[in-house]
Amino acid sequence: MCGIVAYIGGQEAAPIVIDGLGRLEYRGYDSAGVAVLRDGKIDIRRDVGKLVNLRSKVAAQPLAGQIGIGHTRWATHGAPAEHNAHPHISMGGAFVVVHNGIVENYLELKEELRAQGVAFQSETDTEVIVQLIEHVTRQGVTDLTEATRQAVARLRGAHAIVVMSVMQPDRLVTVRIGNAGGVALGLGDGEMYIASDIPAILEYTRRMVFLESRQMATVCRNSFSVQTLDGVPVDAEIHTIPYDPISAVKGEYKHFMQKEIFEQPRSITDTIRGRVDFETFAVNLPDLKLTQAQARRLQRVVTVACGTSYYSGLVGKFFIEHMARLHVEVDYGSEYRYRDPILNEDIAVLAITQSGETVDTLAALEEARHKHAIVWSIVNAIGSQAMRLADGYISMNAGPEIGVASTKAFTTSIVDQYLLALALGQLRGTLSDAQRIAYVNDLAKLPDLVGRALESDKTVQELAHHLYKFTNFLFLGRGINYPIALEGALKLKEISYIHAEGYPAGEMKHGPIALIDEQMPVLAIAQQDSLYEKMISQIEQAKARGGIVIALATEGDTLIASKADYVIYLPAAPELLSPVVNVVPLQLLAYHIAALRGADVDQPRNLAKSVTVE
Ligand code: AGP
Repeated sequence: MCGIVAYIGGQEAAPIVIDGLGRLEYRGYDSAGVAVLRDGKIDIRRDVGKLVNLRSKVAAQPLAGQIGIGHTRWATHGAPAEHNAHPHISMGGAFVVVHNGIVENYLELKEELRAQGVAFQSETDTEVIVQLIEHVTRQGVTDLTEATRQAVARLRGAHAIVVMSVMQPDRLVTVRIGNAGGVALGLGDGEMYIASDIPAILEYTRRMVFLESRQMATVCRNSFSVQTLDGVPVDAEIHTIPYDPISAVKGEYKHFMQKEIFEQPRSITDTIRGRVDFETFAVNLPDLKLTQAQARRLQRVVTVACGTSYYSGLVGKFFIEHMARLHVEVDYGSEYRYRDPILNEDIAVLAITQSGETVDTLAALEEARHKHAIVWSIVNAIGSQAMRLADGYISMNAGPEIGVASTKAFTTSIVDQYLLALALGQLRGTLSDAQRIAYVNDLAKLPDLVGRALESDKTVQELAHHLYKFTNFLFLGRGINYPIALEGALKLKEISYIHAEGYPAGEMKHGPIALIDEQMPVLAIAQQDSLYEKMISQIEQAKARGGIVIALATEGDTLIASKADYVIYLPAAPELLSPVVNVVPLQLLAYHIAALRGADVDQPRNLAKSVTVE
């Protein structure tokens, strides 16, 4: 949560920093700020609310300087007010800091600094960092890196920090401790960038270095150096990022979420590409580093994830259990470590995380590592912590996902698990050649099926006009489509603020049926699959109680129109892959309802794209 961007080079810093913040605004939008340094003076502009407010302020009161830092905030300590917005400046005015994370011992440090005469201007935890750095320099430390090192040694918690100072105006110092969020250094020609996430600086460079926890970097115009917090030099690996910056802009679409929904046929193709040999029907996942011996020894897979990624894991459980005959547990990242889980070296713990930075999921991975399990991740953000912490990973290849509501990362992470299940089935000998060929052929059809599901957009938009004023929704699914009912409800909740619940359809009669009346739209996933007849009887039960039923049905189903009030027809899909097709109209429904309600689709209230607090 919170986005950080910094620049040092030969250009004006403020426009580069503010543009970068624009691409990180999904990380927090309670306030934003930028500071530049020129002629021994730090100049700051900050404002509450979205970046647009800061942009207007900077347009009215321009900033000049070729070194600068900026921040977009998701408030933790202190209300979203201007005086709590970052960057925070030290009492003497010589140091300025942006920060992502929580200083757990900030009250104690604040008291200590106050006792020494430091006056605080904000209610934030961050301000203690900048006051501490200034305090260290008053004791005679004249090097910014050293002063920062000494100051951060006093902090508890997880942090990503950038410091700028008049003391050494030719450099920025940045630190990463724990999993509060990433720190990427962008390497340019005579200029350098720092950002919490790749899209912020991708327009300027694809050469990046990612700091690990407990590392810091000193970044000048023409050079950088990385070291541990103990001062040991690090030979940092330089990564070349394949993303195309164009994919991080909205283009012809009104919202990023809409664009990302429509990108799914392409992103799914990118996920499959290069991993399946369509001549031999073999699946190859080199980054997973899975050997046949390891696959055969495996006793269990434990999937850990949060939110939408957790629902993706619930779908993946069906694939792995069915194709690889391995038991799969799926747990919330935020709950896993509280159970003293039973793990060993023949159990794989699989984290699914779009951002690769969700602190709860990372904590679950650390628990797994501590208990000697095999650690895998399915991630979208290249170079993220979940990618680097794992023994092996599968990338989603979805490209940057900017909308806070996850869409293409959900479907590509499902495809990744399908590939994983095939690879495991192959290595464990639990799939016959004929089965493997059939499953691979099914997968090859998926991008086209998703493309056809997107053709429901007009119907869904019209339907949204009938539904957007309701205040409660029920989503019902069974079997492999129960997680899709959960995901459909989550999408609606998070972007339209309508209360929605996802339920396994068979459970309706055990309680939720009491909620159904003419004010309750019930969305039923009722494809012509092995559970079709059961879904029809659930639809009848909902209709009998006055519910308004919307059915997701298979093209050519002639019965369903007589049972439901509204029908969205989708192409027939192989049952195992049907969740990927069925979720598309649910994403569109949430999108259109939110748009009709005038909600902020890409940046829903109270949410952030990367959840780096517990
Ligand atoms: C999805 O729409 C949500 N915004 C949220 O549930 C998200 O999936 C969750 O926070 C996990 O994020 P991750 O995949 O980046 O770990």
